[in-house]
Amino acid sequence: MPLSAALETERRIVREISAIVVAIGGVAFGLVLVLVRGILAPIRGLLSGISSIGVGDYDVRVPVLSRDELGELAESFNAMSAQLARTTVSKEYVEGVLENMRDLLLVTDSAGRVKTANHAAAEALGGAVVGRPLAELLSSDDGFAAPKAARDAEVALLAKDGGRIPALLSSAPLRDREGRPQGWIVVAKDITERKRDEEALVRAKLAAEASSRELEAFSYSVAHDLRAPLRAVDGFSQILLDGYSDKLDDHGKDYLRRVRAGSRRMGQLIDDLLNLSRITRSVLKLEDVDLSAIVEELAGELKRSDPKRSVEFAVEPGVVVRGDPNLLRVALVNLMSNAWKYTGKKPSARIEFGRRPGPGTTLYVRDDGAGFDMAFANKLFHPFSRLHSASEFEGTGIGLAIVQRVVGRHRGNIRGEGVPGRGATFEFTLWEENA
Ligand SMILES: Nc1ncnc2c1ncn2[C@@H]1O[C@H](COP(=O)(O)OP(=O)(O)O)[C@@H](O)[C@H]1O
Ligand SMILES: [Mg+2]
Repeated sequence: MPLSAALETERRIVREISAIVVAIGGVAFGLVLVLVRGILAPIRGLLSGISSIGVGDYDVRVPVLSRDELGELAESFNAMSAQLARTTVSKEYVEGVLENMRDLLLVTDSAGRVKTANHAAAEALGGAVVGRPLAELLSSDDGFAAPKAARDAEVALLAKDGGRIPALLSSAPLRDREGRPQGWIVVAKDITERKRDEEALVRAKLAAEASSRELEAFSYSVAHDLRAPLRAVDGFSQILLDGYSDKLDDHGKDYLRRVRAGSRRMGQLIDDLLNLSRITRSVLKLEDVDLSAIVEELAGELKRSDPKRSVEFAVEPGVVVRGDPNLLRVALVNLMSNAWKYTGKKPSARIEFGRRPGPGTTLYVRDDGAGFDMAFANKLFHPFSRLHSASEFEGTGIGLAIVQRVVGRHRGNIRGEGVPGRGATFEFTLWEENA
């Protein structure tokens, strides 16, 4: 074979080998690409998803890039993270809630040393709370030397500036899965504002009571001092009528009689005022009082006062309450004589006294007389205010004001209910918790 032919053969062989090498390289490159895109990318996705879950971010999705085993793996990963996000409360979330709570939150170990304090606690008690015994951070009457279960216990938190913060404290033991005590969780609510309001209310009440006492004393002394000049008016009118009747004509005598009637009515009003005043000023003497017996006695007196009237009394027996016997009698006298008076225009009437069933003490006096219009019910208990005219029924309008004061002094309330022409019911309570 000539040399040129041999060289040509060699070059061809080299070209073919080169082509084969290039082809193999291309295939290898292609394989690497497939590997990177088909296997490494999904694995990288999964890895980053797993590390997100590691730091508490459960709500992650990885892309599903293929329909093979890797795709299935990515899909199950997504299902798992979605389930985790739905069912797991992240630490961050819990911390966010606790930190933003306005109430103070402390967690102690079982010896009562603070392990964790939220922002509100650190703020109120001073930064260096962790590590200190709970007992050092508060003072209370029933002692929190060791933590204990409590619900809304009134305590004073010892603030960092040396002040005391009134607070309501609740605490409960913290246990591990096996139920072994781990420490205490303590929540305290700052009630500074509520306390301030309460104190302002007490001060306002005391001031109001003082000024009402002053007013009471004033009206008492005025009423008292009016009596003597009034007696003079009445007395000298009487002398004029008796000793000078021959010098007076009938008109003059009539005027004098009116002067006397007016001064007697004024005397009655003054006496009422003084009685009203005495109710508030007297010292309460408490004992068991048989109200039924008092009402029976009053019913007897009323019947004897006008035997011609036909009035049936229905008195529940054995109604005994704790109270001041004199004041309760005064109240019943007024209620019963009203019932008697306002049934006076009926041919026959019925008056009832009794106790309402249920908790607490609720008593009533009911009649089937003239009744009254509920539109004016708010005036019933005002001193000297009347819902019936003097031409219809006589009176000065002080009775119910007296009853209301007696009931008030027994920490109770009274209300009246009436229907014109059908009767009235006065219902009162004694010793109400919030009165
Ligand atoms: N049992 C009753 N029936 C109807 N009205 C009543 C009754 N008790 C009180 N009232 C009304 O309430 C008003 C105030 O009562 P009270 O203070 O006892 O004054 P008074 O009996 O002197 O009029 C009365 O004027 C009357 O209008
Ligand atoms: Mg009356």
